[in-house]
Parts: sequence; C-alpha cells; structure tokens
Amino acid sequence: MAIRNLRLEGDEILKKQSREINVIDDKLQTLIDDMIETMHKYNGVGLAAVQVGVLKRVIVIDLYDDNGPIVLINPIILETKGEHEVDEGCLSFPNQFAKVLRPEEVVAEYTDREGKRMRVKAKELLAQAICHEVDHLNGEVFVDKIIPGTLEYVEPDKE
Ligand code: NI
Repeated sequence: MAIRNLRLEGDEILKKQSREINVIDDKLQTLIDDMIETMHKYNGVGLAAVQVGVLKRVIVIDLYDDNGPIVLINPIILETKGEHEVDEGCLSFPNQFAKVLRPEEVVAEYTDREGKRMRVKAKELLAQAICHEVDHLNGEVFVDKIIPGTLEYVEPDKE
C-alpha cells in the first residue's frame, strides 16, 4: 500500500467527470487500498479517486466506527430524504470548513470491492459523506455549494 498525492484546490482534475468502472482487477484493488491509506493518513472521512488523480467512479468512506472503511464502486444515489445544514470540509481544500445543505437520509446503490451490487440506507454523517464523494465523481466540490458567509479557514495545529 502507498500514500498517494492529494489533488488540491485549483487542480483542474477536480472539475472532471469520473468514468464508470467495468472491471474490478488488481490495479483497482491497489488503488482502493492506497485510497484508504491516504484517507487515514490525513484523517479524512471520505475520499474519491479523482482526489488522487484517477478519474474512476470509486469512493472510500470511514466514519471511524465499527463498520470500518467502506468502498463504493459506481455509486448511485437513488433517493434522498429531508435536508439539513451541516459542517463540511474536504481533503482537497485543507483547513477550509463551511456549512452546506445535505439530505438527512439517502438510499444509494453501489458495487463492493468483491463485485457484489449492494444497497445502503444512510443517515446523518454517512449520508453526507456519500453525497460529498459522489459529487466529486461528477466534478463538483463542496466549496461550490456552501451557504454564503459560512466559509472559515482554520489554521492547522503546529507539529
Ligand atoms: Ni472532498
């Protein structure tokens, strides 16, 4: 496994559409392992492949609970319910946080890394993370949808 370089604010790749994945091969498994390692290194809750420069429709999410990291290949949001204001950040926009509107619940379908098509009903942070990462696959970033006046820059702790 390896840490991959994060693509950051201003990188044009973040505005591109990611492509559907047709084959789950060793190369994809390595990408997934690297994405999980990279997300953990930067203490992220989620990461889309585009954020490490790969335009493939795969995302990883880890809420640091008992479920461990989850891998969603070709995710599709089928339904959303409700809407609420949430705090959000993104590993591609270091130290920036803002409020955005996200659904309270989503139903999503995806393929897991074993190739099985799955369906998940997600609430709260998991629902938010799925929406944020699926946006990345469509070339959308959270700073484009923030509630005006809520963007904050937070200085990182000095090491
Ligand atoms: Ni992000």
